[in-house]
Amino acid sequence: MLLGRRGAIILTEAAIRVFGMSLWNRSRTKPKAWLTDEEDRLTPERSLWQDENEPISHYYRWIWEYLAYLPLLCDVERHSSVLEIGCSHGRTSRGLLQCLRSPGSYSGFDVVRVQIEDATRRITAIAPNFRYSHADIYNRHYNPQGAVQASDFVFPYEDASFDCVYAASVFTHLLPEELANYFQQTARVLRTGGKALFSLFVLDFYRGAGTPISKDYEFEHPFGGHQGVAVKYPEYPDTVIAYSEEAIGRAAGSAGLEVLRIVPGLWSNNPGIAVNEQDLLVLGPKSR
Ligand SMILES: C[S@@+](CC[C@H](N)C(=O)[O-])C[C@H]1O[C@@H](n2cnc3c(N)ncnc32)[C@H](O)[C@@H]1O
Repeated sequence: MLLGRRGAIILTEAAIRVFGMSLWNRSRTKPKAWLTDEEDRLTPERSLWQDENEPISHYYRWIWEYLAYLPLLCDVERHSSVLEIGCSHGRTSRGLLQCLRSPGSYSGFDVVRVQIEDATRRITAIAPNFRYSHADIYNRHYNPQGAVQASDFVFPYEDASFDCVYAASVFTHLLPEELANYFQQTARVLRTGGKALFSLFVLDFYRGAGTPISKDYEFEHPFGGHQGVAVKYPEYPDTVIAYSEEAIGRAAGSAGLEVLRIVPGLWSNNPGIAVNEQDLLVLGPKSR
């Protein structure tokens, strides 16, 4: 007993202070210091979140929702090859870790480099069949120095290489020429029998100012000369944009796709079935 009882008490108190402080610091930067280390490692720092103050339930909701939607609406299974557009730090791809097994694979791209690097560090490190790529596409908010316009961007993948292409809350920011190009690229990289799932706002469900669940989802302004397209902020149309079923069908048809299904979302506050916050659009290659 070199320390004696008093020394042991002082050391214990110091350890509690240091350990307690490190837990406190961790909980301020990590979203959930109260979970296992493995879970903690899979979750990005809050500074990389779309909104670093959002509740952890919001983060998890996206993971589990897409793990349900992709098998149910797009027939994704163990050996599927899946592409995500606008994958951010890999939030929804985390659900697919439960589902895809090699040779099944996941590829995601996004315009924000740090998020791609983070996803690669956290997820590819434990699942090499999950790959994340940076695409230097211009976006006023997310990548203002981007070199390529979304309307000209060629997805960096072979023709007919995916069973499923999906995007969570990305088409809600794409302007008509960009949506048209992304539909065409999707048609090109989808295999025969493949399916695409895009969350967006379908204008037909909008019933006027004051009716949606949030003022952010009010589409009072027709966009330019485009029929069936409306925005919340005419001066910043990419903040949030909505498309009519007719406009979606037209763009899909020109790209060689057809609308298979639209599952209404909660945003429009319509009575009836609502699944995701946004509407879910399911597309497939046009039947000949
Ligand atoms: C609302 S966030 C959704 C992020 C992600 N899908 C998720 O579930 O966490 C929109 C994402 O789209 C990305 N993005 C914006 N414009 C894009 C474009 N033209 N092509 C691909 N991704 C884009 C942004 O960088 C951002 O990560």
